[in-house]
Amino acid sequence: MCGIIGYIGHRNVEEVLLKGLQTLEYRGYDSAGVVLLDSNGTAQVQKCVGKVQNLIVQCKKAPVNDALCGMGHTRWATHGGVTNLNAHPHQSGKVTLIHNGIIENYQELANEYHLADQVISETDTEVVAALLNRFYEGDPVKTIRTVASKLKGTYAFGIIFSDIKDKLFAIRHVSPIIAGVGKDKKEAFLSSDVTALSEYVADYFVIPEDVVTILEAGKITLLDACDQEVFVNHLTIDWETGAIGKNGYEFYMEKEIMEQPQVIVNTVMPRCKDGLPDLSVDHIPDDIWTKYEKITIIACGTAMHAGLVAKNLMQSLLRLPVTVEIASEYIYSDPVIDDTTLVIAISQSGETIDTLEAVRYARKHGADNLSIVNVKGSTIARESQFVLYTNAGPEIAVASTKAYITQLVSLYILICQMAYMRGIFLKEKAMQFMSSLLALPGQIEQVLADRASVHALTKDMIGAKDLFMIGRGLDYTALLEGSLKLKEISYIHSEAYASGELKHGTIALITPETPVITLITQKKLASKELSNAIEVKARGAKVVMLTTKAIPLEDPSQWEHIYYLPALPSEFMIFPAVVALQLIAFYVSKEKGLDVDKPRNLAKVVTVE
Ligand code: M6R
Repeated sequence: MCGIIGYIGHRNVEEVLLKGLQTLEYRGYDSAGVVLLDSNGTAQVQKCVGKVQNLIVQCKKAPVNDALCGMGHTRWATHGGVTNLNAHPHQSGKVTLIHNGIIENYQELANEYHLADQVISETDTEVVAALLNRFYEGDPVKTIRTVASKLKGTYAFGIIFSDIKDKLFAIRHVSPIIAGVGKDKKEAFLSSDVTALSEYVADYFVIPEDVVTILEAGKITLLDACDQEVFVNHLTIDWETGAIGKNGYEFYMEKEIMEQPQVIVNTVMPRCKDGLPDLSVDHIPDDIWTKYEKITIIACGTAMHAGLVAKNLMQSLLRLPVTVEIASEYIYSDPVIDDTTLVIAISQSGETIDTLEAVRYARKHGADNLSIVNVKGSTIARESQFVLYTNAGPEIAVASTKAYITQLVSLYILICQMAYMRGIFLKEKAMQFMSSLLALPGQIEQVLADRASVHALTKDMIGAKDLFMIGRGLDYTALLEGSLKLKEISYIHSEAYASGELKHGTIALITPETPVITLITQKKLASKELSNAIEVKARGAKVVMLTTKAIPLEDPSQWEHIYYLPALPSEFMIFPAVVALQLIAFYVSKEKGLDVDKPRNLAKVVTVE
């Protein structure tokens, strides 16, 4: 979850590292640090708690302009609290180390090698630094291999040996890390993700597991356990450098919400031919659409909410039994896996460890698997049997918005393809379904253009301690996502509740101080949803209603806060509804003066279990 950047080359090393850390800050932001190896062989460390900006201020007081190479780190604390001492890099003798992951046996190692007096922080990482130093006798590759063989857990390490001024070292196990040579072939970079490299390299590669990586200016060498050089496939960067800027917006989340019409186009257009779904671009064999009797969807957080939408539609349109599994629960639930089930994993980052482990488990037990992933070349993408890439581009805000919308449209395309190939949709119906998808950007534009009205709905939410979001069916799945958005960035306790279930206990929590958002867009459920909204209103709740003009309301004037979404076919209403809910969360967070893009305790990429 931490961010790692390493650099060796002709540029000002400190500047490259600090800029890289700012780009990677969304991965973790409890504390940050850099190490700069100067021409005297001194590895100078600066680190501090808080945002990268604090580190920049600290570094400005004592700039190092002649560094030959260096590494930087943004931390998401696992072992040990958020303190300067626990921040990375960690040093021991000639070794300086940065780490993403968790070393499970660090205490055993500290005891076995009597390292206690050399370790001053509470971190697992410092124990590894001390161990590297213990074994180091001038041969870095041998030392790294020896120490790695003793570790249990997950790691991506960047390592500097201060007596070796022209090389950086890296090794990883499970935790991802990438590397690339600069466009001018005179520099080399290490990073936990491609966003920090896109300005400098034309291509990059994912460092293979358990291979010692040596970075020199203009050259990267990978060595396996037998000292044989390993050659890997390179991936090209197809995201514009500009795509990772804020493009004039104050927050990435706002920019990413506004990009949703475009990313829908980017995801749907390559998969639509002559008005019909066409997944040839994804090289997925046709029999996958007709062969399976059951579907299991595995994902976490927002991606899991996209799965719930798919479940609803797959069941109603395809009449297929679908289960949606929280990835962190999946492998511990003794899942029934057989060859009649297709396992679909969904992940923006493609690195979420719970989802990755679930994919591995399903494949090991014989399931076929298709993954819907945003980040190209990510671990889940590489380890999946089939991959459908959402073309959301880089998503930087911790709260996922545009990635979710592309996950949804990808799932809708799959559903349409399955329905067409199974003879459930005739050609005309399939074309109509695809044209509804292609109409979405314009309809979402309408909500975005009217965002001031959505903003006005948030008045009573800013000071709320608790908030409920109620609805049924697809509305309920949209609210689960809207509620996650609100709690994650506004810190308001928000619960999405199936509105019919409220009166079985939870309605006791409804008071005049509890704002309630009700989403009513599904014609077949509207009258029941409406009754449930009236029930909470009768208990004094301030109700904000999101609905459409296609839903008849007996007395609209009784609803003080009502917002009309564009009226679309019921199964497509989730799109404008979720965009309105994202905007609500965004405005509440902004009004509360919170850091919208970097909410407390969270990180964008969750690589620990
Ligand atoms: O990268 P992934 O899609 O696998 O991430 C899954 C969740 O961690 C993620 O969706 C998380 O819930 C977001 N912060 C929600 O906004």
